[in-house]
Amino acid sequence: MRDAILRQQPYVPPAERRAGKLRLDFNENTVGCSPGVCRALAKLTPERLSMYPEYTVATGRLARHFGVRAEEMLLTNGVDDALHLLCDTFVDPGSRVLLCEPTFSMYRLYAEIANAKIIALRYDAAMRFPLDDALAALRTGKLSPHVFFLANPNNPTGTLVPAKELARMLRAAPRTVVVVDEAYAEFSGLTIIRWIRRYPNLVVLRTFSKAAGLAALRLGCIFAGRTAISFLRRAASPFSVNTAALVAAEAAIRDRRAIRSYVAEVTRAREEFARSLSRLGITVYPSAANFVFVDFGERGPQLIRTLARRGILLRDRGMEFGRRGFARISVGTRAEMRRLVRAIEKNW
Ligand SMILES: Cc1ncc(COP(=O)(O)O)c(C=O)c1O
Repeated sequence: MRDAILRQQPYVPPAERRAGKLRLDFNENTVGCSPGVCRALAKLTPERLSMYPEYTVATGRLARHFGVRAEEMLLTNGVDDALHLLCDTFVDPGSRVLLCEPTFSMYRLYAEIANAKIIALRYDAAMRFPLDDALAALRTGKLSPHVFFLANPNNPTGTLVPAKELARMLRAAPRTVVVVDEAYAEFSGLTIIRWIRRYPNLVVLRTFSKAAGLAALRLGCIFAGRTAISFLRRAASPFSVNTAALVAAEAAIRDRRAIRSYVAEVTRAREEFARSLSRLGITVYPSAANFVFVDFGERGPQLIRTLARRGILLRDRGMEFGRRGFARISVGTRAEMRRLVRAIEKNW
């Protein structure tokens, strides 16, 4: 067995039997995809299912939706698969991979499996992005990282790095592949997909798992200049995206209103929820995504266990910033968040 695998912790599968509960632990869409998506899926014929997927038409439609050319985009089996592919394509053993933690844990996992040398910076206790440290790490010339993974907004802190600062980082290290994971961009309203023509070192990732409500179907998109996409294609498996995911994504972009109205509802719910927790004296960090990072303090772990017994699932972030008590809470509708607030009040 490879040492890189032996060094990993044994895999712990994500929580199961979550259906019917108030699922605020995976940043999913809590109301589900638009009914148009289910109708499109129901029309899938046995013939369609017996065939290997065909990508050209769906890729063309999705590319138009995102404002890029088909050659500037690659579909993947969720962003997870995209991260794997990026490591396969750009990370050699010993390559330097820059991360700002806490962040989405898959960046570190895939980089470690590729035997990369991880350069880990930290958000501070106020959840501020370490811009100066990142610029310094990027400006080390020959020693600049080969790949930089950045979630924007970041999971779990909710922090958004503004466009101006992203541009400074992209210019600081033209040879570093800067991967900006925009899994939550619908909620932040900021996307830099269009910049792929300006910065050949930029790779942008998007997913249909969050705002579009299609986490089960696994569809991610990689956007980059043609050259980078052509390299990624060489390492990609030929049929990693299934036909149901393509059909669902096409239907989802036909019904943009469903996504827009869900995003508007979540944004209102997030602000109302943050105010309610603040009134209880609980620290909530500002967030540009469909979740908030919360400091419950000492009582956190117990509270999260109690809520789970009552069918409300939050994500305990365990030890973060040197102590327990932090949690990441997905934001759903206002009605759902009011239910959570009532449950917290009862057990606080
Ligand atoms: C920043 C970020 N990227 C990617 C993902 C996963 O996306 P996908 O479902 O497309 O693999 C998540 C899920 O939590 C995430 O937080």
